[in-house]
Amino acid sequence: MIDPNYRQGDIKSEAFGQDAMLQPAPVEKIPDGPTTPQVAYQMVKDETFAQTQPRLNLATFVTTYMDDYATKLMNEAININYIDETEYPRVAVMCQKCINIVANLWNTPEQKKWKTGALAIGSSEACMLGGIAAWKRWIERRKKAGKPYDKPNFVISSAYQVVWEKFATLWNIEMRQVPLTKEHTTLDIDQAIKMCDENTFAVVAIQGVTWTGLNDDVEALDAAIDKYNAETGNEVCIHIDAATGGFILPFLFPEKKWDFRLKWVLSISTSGHKFGLVYPGLGWVVWKDKQYLPDDMSFTVDYLGAEVTQVGLNYSRPAAQILGQYYQFIRLGFEGYKNVQYNSLQIAKYLHAQISAMPEFVPYSEDVPNPIVTWLMKPEVQKDAKWTLYDLQDKLAQHGWMVPAYAMPVNIEDMVVMRVLCKQGFSRDMCDELLHDIKAAVAELNALEYPTTTRIAMEKNIPLVTKSFNHTGK
Ligand SMILES: Cc1ncc(COP(=O)(O)O)c(C=O)c1O
Repeated sequence: MIDPNYRQGDIKSEAFGQDAMLQPAPVEKIPDGPTTPQVAYQMVKDETFAQTQPRLNLATFVTTYMDDYATKLMNEAININYIDETEYPRVAVMCQKCINIVANLWNTPEQKKWKTGALAIGSSEACMLGGIAAWKRWIERRKKAGKPYDKPNFVISSAYQVVWEKFATLWNIEMRQVPLTKEHTTLDIDQAIKMCDENTFAVVAIQGVTWTGLNDDVEALDAAIDKYNAETGNEVCIHIDAATGGFILPFLFPEKKWDFRLKWVLSISTSGHKFGLVYPGLGWVVWKDKQYLPDDMSFTVDYLGAEVTQVGLNYSRPAAQILGQYYQFIRLGFEGYKNVQYNSLQIAKYLHAQISAMPEFVPYSEDVPNPIVTWLMKPEVQKDAKWTLYDLQDKLAQHGWMVPAYAMPVNIEDMVVMRVLCKQGFSRDMCDELLHDIKAAVAELNALEYPTTTRIAMEKNIPLVTKSFNHTGK
């Protein structure tokens, strides 16, 4: 392909003039020899170049904007392995300070200087740790009582994030799902209690349900579980999967009881990399007290006379996110977090109102407790429309917006919804631009003469294979 008589592309050339740029990118085998950093950079960069701008990714919950100082700090810490505590003891202490701050945001009653919690790579690891601890506590109780402990289960709404399915599958635990219904848009507490038995170690309640943005009613659940435990002698606890809500509720709804103020809430997990406002991957899990973290899940190090407890599924992991989180705590303070989350929620409410005013759509719920807006087509409009929300998703993608459309979980899977995450970095102005593009796309779709393929598929009940956005984590 390269004619040596014609030209000699060499390492002194501009990247796009070099021979290496005529080679296909490696797919199966490592290339035989090296190339210049300039070419390697260009090839890697260009392979991802056609992707959307992260800030237009309204499908993800994960932080897509941090300020320059935070970015600088995190880049400067890119070569630090968190687990090297002896070499980087300050990072370990900084991590523990973050755990303290998070635990206090969630009203921990623990009086110890260092609160009981753990760093995680995201909510998935944090949920796993919370779940495993609850399961192990149950095993201990069963062993002490001389009862079998081979059939553990936990209860959760069918709008769970996929991590709970992984938890159940990997550890061989039964997951009892309470179906969402059109009437019960969050965890149906009566049904959840009916599913509990002596083998139930926890009910998982979600704050910021991935599919809908709604919150399970933890205060009512806590009361119901208290009654159930008193009547049965069982000790079902509550783990809160607050992947989203963990950093929304303390700032915007501090009076709402969903956290350690409630009796049976013994562990809570969240994503530092969602509304904790840090780039991925960062999660936190906190226990109400050291007694709820089984000893064999933790090891303790002494640093300058302080006891630092460590728990986690990973060993090596990047430390940069801890610096990013601690920076955000110092930089924003309570007031700053409140301002950022308030603005995100206000923009979500604005979007909710605007979408609700369109004749084609109806919001999934009237309530907007988190900066997440979910809507569907009015059934009477969908009936006659020649398009579906999947077509709207594609039209918006042409403008760079990533807005997922997806079917709801079992029982209400005939309901197709669309969801927007209003995160820091999604301004009111951008929201207006999005609305403009939605309205223009809907006008085009309404003018279609023939039904789209997704509309035909819907009519014929053919399951749709659509682009897999990060909507429900499924
Ligand atoms: C409720 C819930 N739990 C767990 C997760 C998993 O979070 P992560 O991506 O941080 O592992 C998510 C992600 O969206 C979520 O919404």
